[in-house]
Amino acid sequence: MSAPRVVAVDGPAAAGKGTLARRLAAELGLPYLDTGLLYRAVGRRVLDRGGDPRDATTAAAEARALTAADLERKDLRTPEADMASSAVAVIPEVRAALLDWQRDFGRRHGAVMDGRDIGTVIFPDAPAKLFVTASPAARAKRRWLELQGKGVTRDLAEVEAEMAARDAQDAQRATAPMKPAPDAVVLDTTDLDAAAAFAAALDLVRARMPA
Ligand code: CDP
Ligand code: CDP
Repeated sequence: MSAPRVVAVDGPAAAGKGTLARRLAAELGLPYLDTGLLYRAVGRRVLDRGGDPRDATTAAAEARALTAADLERKDLRTPEADMASSAVAVIPEVRAALLDWQRDFGRRHGAVMDGRDIGTVIFPDAPAKLFVTASPAARAKRRWLELQGKGVTRDLAEVEAEMAARDAQDAQRATAPMKPAPDAVVLDTTDLDAAAAFAAALDLVRARMPA
């Protein structure tokens, strides 16, 4: 089978993956999928039932019961949902339940997909892979500013500590840990604004994935 027309955008929290992937998708005329939403929605479903996001049986059952409406919820980006998503994402049965859906999405019309394991596990044969990163301080500041914009004032050090804990859990888990694929290009955006990151990423994608 020929390689899917998929651009993989992986990396740690608040690196600018979503912003970049959305712009790439619009430019390339491809659908965009934020795969973090899937894990966030599973975490939410577990919390709704008063369950423990670390419990494999509960989390896997909620992953299998996930619906499109779950992805539209407005409470997927709270600190509680951040930690619950990372906890359910450790569980192999949860990841397995979400795998085919992600592959079908990408194979249908191609896609730009952002997450942690798109280039390593979901589409190891994607022609273009980016691992977007930035310093922990820069990423914490971005998330903090985003929250400010939504009217939520939080302690910057607390945001940075929560993010570090989540990144560590994502990078150290046994199944589909967050890491650059061997053929991914690492894009450090610490000193790049979103426009400069987009320009650099587009060059790479054009080189790897001719129209
Ligand atoms: O998807 P991810 O969590 O990696 O990050 P995001 O939600 O796309 O971006 C977090 C924030 O960083 C947004 O407010 C962006 O405007 C900002 N930002 C960026 O996306 N790219 C840069 N190079 C610099 C800032
Ligand atoms: O927006 P941000 O980068 O903060 O997080 P996200 O992309 O929405 O992902 C939330 C959580 O889901 C991550 O911390 C990971 O634990 C998990 N995730 C994953 O394991 N694999 C993916 N492909 C996407 C997200």
